[in-house]
Amino acid sequence: MIRTQGLTKDFVVSRTETVHAVRGIDLEVAPGELVAVLGPNGAGKTTTMRMLTTLIRPTSGTAEVAGLDVAQDAASVRRRIGYVGQGNGAGHTQRVRDELVVQGVVYGLDRRSAARRAGELLDALDLAELARRKVADLSGGQRRRLDVALGLVHAPGLLFLDEPSTGLDPHNRANLWEHIMRLRAEHDMTIMLTTHYLDEADSMAERVVVVDHGQVIADDTADGLKRDLAGDRLVVEAGGGGDRSVAAVERLVRIVHAQPGARDVSVDGVRVTARVADSAGAVPEVVRAAAAQGVAVVRAQGYAPTLDDVFLALTGRSLRESAATQHTGTTDREAGLAGEDAA
Ligand SMILES: Nc1ncnc2c1ncn2[C@@H]1O[C@H](COP(=O)(O)OP(=O)(O)O)[C@@H](O)[C@H]1O
Ligand SMILES: [Mg+2]
Repeated sequence: MIRTQGLTKDFVVSRTETVHAVRGIDLEVAPGELVAVLGPNGAGKTTTMRMLTTLIRPTSGTAEVAGLDVAQDAASVRRRIGYVGQGNGAGHTQRVRDELVVQGVVYGLDRRSAARRAGELLDALDLAELARRKVADLSGGQRRRLDVALGLVHAPGLLFLDEPSTGLDPHNRANLWEHIMRLRAEHDMTIMLTTHYLDEADSMAERVVVVDHGQVIADDTADGLKRDLAGDRLVVEAGGGGDRSVAAVERLVRIVHAQPGARDVSVDGVRVTARVADSAGAVPEVVRAAAAQGVAVVRAQGYAPTLDDVFLALTGRSLRESAATQHTGTTDREAGLAGEDAA
């Protein structure tokens, strides 16, 4: 459904400044797949999506979407895809049902078909009771469900969702995902989405493409990424106190180092942490070796890796932290861009 080669986008901001937003992305998405593109703010996720949805032209490289070239067949590509942009937004004063009908007409349905389709989507996304409300009066979660409905008016086989759940509370996030997953199952849709919520990428996607600084730095299942890149975390704490604990911690460090795959060993007071290949095997082994050497251990625990551990292993940075601290209002800038650079 999607195939890109060396997809690149430079934004010339001024005579002296060019932003290399996307720097040579190669990507393949097969029919029926659900792929999550994960990365911190500014990584190039939205720019990639806007190229794939023909909203902006690539600087170089190629992209085929739904079997068509985005540069040569932009109009046909648009008919085959749905796009729910980051903080999209339907018009404010329209009523919910009318907004859907108009969108259907824009996509070439006659009014009757558009009205029928609007009714279906209102039901499918739990919006029927809100059909006569003004869009501006919807809550964040309702509004996002409407955005998804708008992206589905023409029943596309391929749906792009740019941070569909950003800004929603956990309840509304779960609710939105429930709808998306059900629609996907019913209509056999291929979905490419972006998120900076690690838990979403982990639980929702069959494949996770990690993007950083405009490049793909990993592409695998969530489990595969965790297995290959992060390893388990091991935490061991020496008991006792005073001078004796210094020697105990030194021994513990040696014991931890001896575990298969041990790396990133660090000490904080009486606590030793490390990455190991298999914490389920390492925990009893550390406890046994410590007892044999007369070191009291008050805690020994293993933790399965998270996608944040994967990102940390790949980049040396925590995605959780960069996502939390770098949230900027890209929407205004994007709105300006659409006018300047629309294909
Ligand atoms: N129209 C634009 N002009 C200049 N720079 C832009 C424009 N759009 C995006 N960028 C820059 O490109 C980079 C990638 O942005 P974006 O694709 O929005 O990232 P993400 O969606 O991963 O947060 C950022 O550095 C951003 O500031
Ligand atoms: Mg974005």
